Order: sequence, then C-alpha cells, then structure tokens
Amino acid sequence: MIEVKGKVAFLTGAAEGLGHEVALELASLGMRLALFDVQAERLNALADGLRSQGTEVLPIVVDLSDAAATTAAADRAMEHYGTPRALIHDAALLKERDFADITFADWRREMDIIVQAAFILSKAVWPGMVQAGSGSILFVSSGSALSGFVKEAAYTPGKHAQEGLMKVLSLAGRPHNIAVNTITTGVSIDTPMSASHYTEEMKIGMVHPSRLAPAFGFLAGIDAGFATGERFDAFKMSEAMCVAAKRPPYDR
Ligand SMILES: NC(=O)c1ccc[n+]([C@@H]2O[C@H](COP(=O)([O-])OP(=O)(O)OC[C@H]3O[C@@H](n4cnc5c(N)ncnc54)[C@H](O)[C@@H]3O)[C@@H](O)[C@H]2O)c1
Repeated sequence: MIEVKGKVAFLTGAAEGLGHEVALELASLGMRLALFDVQAERLNALADGLRSQGTEVLPIVVDLSDAAATTAAADRAMEHYGTPRALIHDAALLKERDFADITFADWRREMDIIVQAAFILSKAVWPGMVQAGSGSILFVSSGSALSGFVKEAAYTPGKHAQEGLMKVLSLAGRPHNIAVNTITTGVSIDTPMSASHYTEEMKIGMVHPSRLAPAFGFLAGIDAGFATGERFDAFKMSEAMCVAAKRPPYDR
C-alpha cells in the first residue's frame, strides 16, 4: 500500500453516479485529480466544489468514445501532472436496445467508451508507471462482464472485452509492479444509469454509490505485489473497510 495523499489519480466518469462519489473519496484522501467526463457543466461544478475544499483538480471535458479526443485528453492530463499513481476508468454508457434496432454507430459508441478508452488511457500512463515501478489501473466492471443480458449487444461485449484487457495488462504489468484490476459494484447502486434501465425488482436493496467509494481509495494505492489480475467487489470491500476502521457505512 502506498500513501496516496498528494499523489495523482486520473478518473473518468466523474460528473455523476459512481464516478462522482469516487472523486469525492479520492479528494478526501488528499489525492490530486484529473477528472474526465463528457458533461461539462456537472464536471466543472464538481471541480469548483473540490477546489473550494483545497483539492487540486484538472477537469477535462471529453467524449471518451472519440479516440483522437481521448488521446488528446490523456496527453493534457499527462502534461499537467506527469504519470499518475492511479488510473480509474469508470465512464460507461448503457442504452438498452433490441438487437434488431441497434445501429453499428450505437454499438461502436458504447464499446469505445468502455474498452477503446480503457486501452488509450492505459497506454498513456503505462510508460511512466513502468519507469516508476509502481501504479494501479482499475476498470469499473459489471455483471455484464460475466453474463449476457438481452438488449445489451454493445455494453455486455464491451464489459467482457474490458475484463480481457485487464487480464492481459495484469500479466504485462506484473514484472513492473503495476496492478491492473477490475472492480464491480457488487450491488445495485442508485445512479442515473440505474434509473434509466433498472426494473423495480432490480432496485430492491439499491444503495447510494458513496457506499462503494472506500474501495476505490484503497485500490488507488496498491501495486501488483498486493493484487493484480483480480475482479474486486466494491461493496463488499468497502463494507469490510468500514467495519475494520470502525467507521459506519455512509451515504453522502
Ligand atoms: N449503475 C449500476 O448499478 C452499475 C452496475 C454495474 C456496473 N456499473 C458500472 O459502474 C460505472 C459507473 O456507472 P454509473 O451507474 O455511475 O453510470 P452513470 O451513467 O450514472 O455515470 C456514468 C458517467 O460516465 C460519463 N460518460 C458517459 N459517456 C461518456 C463519454 N462518452 N465520455 C466521457 N464520459 C462519459 C457520464 O457523463 C457519467 O458522468 C460504469 O462503468 C458502469 O458500467 C454500474
């Protein structure tokens, strides 16, 4: 475990949902942040709020389905901060459609946000992490990485591909002490994504995404010596951390 205070994290999907709560958690640990999202207004509001509490933050408005824009965004964050201690790729898009209705452009957009951006961002931070002999790369996964769901002809293969990329990078990163892992929510979370596609049954037991945030702070500070090539459960890990720290599970 590395002390993350003062270290840098690159985080995608920070404007709302789970990524927003992860940004607050990383800031509370004293990390300096590059936050990537397509929603300018929400992202800038988050950045302003964090700055007012003393966090160093670089908001980068970017459509992560666009390869050139993603590369430029990664370059900007690298120029500003240098190599981060942690890269957390949370952004994703889920639009449920019958297979008969999904267009190739729809399919590419969801796939590219999930897996193309994971590839481009990992490539950007990789040489510096190799040089540093440490680092943590974390992709936010889903039950859709293990099972197929009807109406998810893009999201499900995207999440499966992201798991595959993690497995390859974890092997490549092991000699350099770079941890590469995925993390699934482990529980239904109350976010805009869930609101748009969860059935009433799926909403039972739903928790606020802040309940999952502690795991991300912990995993930002690991190296391959602790764990690599793993698929973590954010809810279980966060609950265990709260029990160990005698800190109650919290909703912001
Ligand atoms: N909601 C759930 O119950 C659930 C379950 C399992 C896994 N997940 C995963 O957790 C992560 C977060 O999910 P969430 O529920 O917070 O989703 P959300 O839709 O509420 O938030 C996703 C964030 O990603 C950003 N984003 C979307 N498209 C983008 C693009 N093209 N470029 C840049 N940013 C973009 C959005 O603006 C938003 O801030 C995702 O990877 C998702 O697949 C969520």
